[in-house]
Amino acid sequence: MRVLFLGDIVGRPGRQVIGELLPEIIAENKIDLVLANGENAAGGFGLTKDVAEELFSYGIAVLTMGNHTWDNRSILEIIDKEERIIRPLNFNLQSPGRGWTVIKWKDYNIAVVNFIGQVFMNGNNSPFDIFDQYIEEIKKKSDIIIIDFHAEATAEKLAFAHYVDGQVAVLVGTHTHIQTSDDRILPEGTAYITDLGMCGACDSILGMEVESVIYRFKTQIPERYKIKKDGKYKLEGAIIDINEKTGRSNSINRIRIFKNNF
Ligand SMILES: [Fe+2]
Ligand SMILES: [Fe+2]
Repeated sequence: MRVLFLGDIVGRPGRQVIGELLPEIIAENKIDLVLANGENAAGGFGLTKDVAEELFSYGIAVLTMGNHTWDNRSILEIIDKEERIIRPLNFNLQSPGRGWTVIKWKDYNIAVVNFIGQVFMNGNNSPFDIFDQYIEEIKKKSDIIIIDFHAEATAEKLAFAHYVDGQVAVLVGTHTHIQTSDDRILPEGTAYITDLGMCGACDSILGMEVESVIYRFKTQIPERYKIKKDGKYKLEGAIIDINEKTGRSNSINRIRIFKNNF
């Protein structure tokens, strides 16, 4: 099966570029399943019901989250019922929502699991411990396992990827919004990339207006970043070919498509 995993969707520009480009990408590449990180989809901060519905209507099957999960509190209205939205499994065990979900593709059960890092991200449980705690249950209920590891540090991402290598089909990194060029199949067959990148405005800092970010660094005054809206937009992610018989991957190729503003 062929999966497209999109990097962090940042605000309306991210949603717009997906709405515009996704149908062509799916048709041209014969994509079976689309997944995306949605932690910045609502104005850069979190997710709402309407924004999630918009993204599902474009063909995204599951949205993963990250450190911005609770930025928009309206997610609390949907996160316990909506099985297509998952937040990191290694959040507190009593946090609302779920850390993994299973969807059907043909006769196969696909588990999508979300983890978050500990380096430069305070307060999360160890992804290693929580993986060990849940993996047998996840394996019992699925044929193919796909992980979004939402983390800052490249070494932590690589360490976790090698830790799970061979047990899961895919481990992709999200959070930095900067696509890395290290997409590859690990020795035991897990497809890996340190970071998928983002879907949003190009001439920006992580999808946000440059001026507001520079102001914050210069003055250390906490100003809320504003979504960059003008200029070019881009869509970034990776296409992964999974052998559904073995639950491992054959190939992973990153994609990056630019689009003029609409
Ligand atoms: Fe993000
Ligand atoms: Fe993040």
